[in-house]
Amino acid sequence: MIAIGTILVSTGSYVPEYRLTNSMLTNMVDTSEEWIIQRTGIRERRVAVDQTTTELAIVAAKRALEDTDLIPQELDLIVACTATPDSYTPSVACRVQTALQAQQAFAFDLSAACSGFVYATDVVDSYFRAGKARTALVICAETLSRIIDYTDRTTCCLFGDGAGAAVYQWSDRKDGILQTVMGADGSRADALLAKALPVEDPLHPDRAASSAERFLKMNGKEVFRFAARTVPEAIDHVLEGSGITLDQIDWIIPHQANLRIIDVICRRYGLRKEQVYVNLERYGNTSSASIPLCLDEMRRKGLLQTGQHIIFVGFGGGLTYGAVLMCI
Ligand code: COA
Repeated sequence: MIAIGTILVSTGSYVPEYRLTNSMLTNMVDTSEEWIIQRTGIRERRVAVDQTTTELAIVAAKRALEDTDLIPQELDLIVACTATPDSYTPSVACRVQTALQAQQAFAFDLSAACSGFVYATDVVDSYFRAGKARTALVICAETLSRIIDYTDRTTCCLFGDGAGAAVYQWSDRKDGILQTVMGADGSRADALLAKALPVEDPLHPDRAASSAERFLKMNGKEVFRFAARTVPEAIDHVLEGSGITLDQIDWIIPHQANLRIIDVICRRYGLRKEQVYVNLERYGNTSSASIPLCLDEMRRKGLLQTGQHIIFVGFGGGLTYGAVLMCI
């Protein structure tokens, strides 16, 4: 049988147990539960108190594989996405490969912040089309709590920790991934910045930075404007490229950053609330993990059915954005 399309085989996810509620945040910074709900839609987020990014990634990866007929040795590509890796080297992907004993897979990390899952999906699809892999695992895992300044009310209410994973295969189905688009605007990098700096560096004292500089800094309004422009552009692009019309789309799964950004998308396309999956009230913005966390919840609730058309669309640090249209 000739393989001609990239299909989503399975998903998995994991969130740490510790819940940081809006009420708890009001004891930490000058904010209110009403402000957070009205401006973001978020009610609580999870925090990895004693777990690493890699540990979150491994659980999500195992859960994704458990629901398949595959054994880890059949994976030939592992891509991990994270803005919060545990080390400069090795990659999270190599750690996951070892934990799974997926020795046949080549493995690397991809840095595209909150657009990570969209970028990784496109990369996997491209490797499949080039004939360089046939079965791939994408894992998105974040411990953003490590780079959040919990005295900064403009960021600490927004972000949470978690992991999501997806297994893709090159298949004889001609649908699967139908269209992708990715974009970046590096000139806006400072709008969402978390520096990787040595706190103490005796060899290069001029490079020493205060530990505060590693905390995430964000120009919320600029990111909001970027998302409000690029998300509809990306959706339009994948629709036009695939010849699929909006009324054929069963689900739009946006990056879970802010309910007001999702409202912009709904208004722009006249979408009903039931067509757009939202879980940010429980997890906040988990960066690259947000879309696969949604996909896994949807699959386990039976909301994803074979033959449906879905679009997932992301935006974030870089600044980056992208969308994927697929028939599942
Ligand atoms: N609690 C109470 N007040 C807060 C607050 C908080 N947690 N955070 C900010 N404020 C204050 C500000 O200091 C400001 O006060 P001022 O008017 O006295 O200066 C006021 O609320 C309004 O702030 P502003 O930044 O204009 O709010 P906003 O409506 O733009 O909402 C964000 C802020 C961050 C929620 C919004 O800009 C956003 O979601 N942007 C996108 C961010 C994003 O998606 N990032 C991730 C990308 S992957």
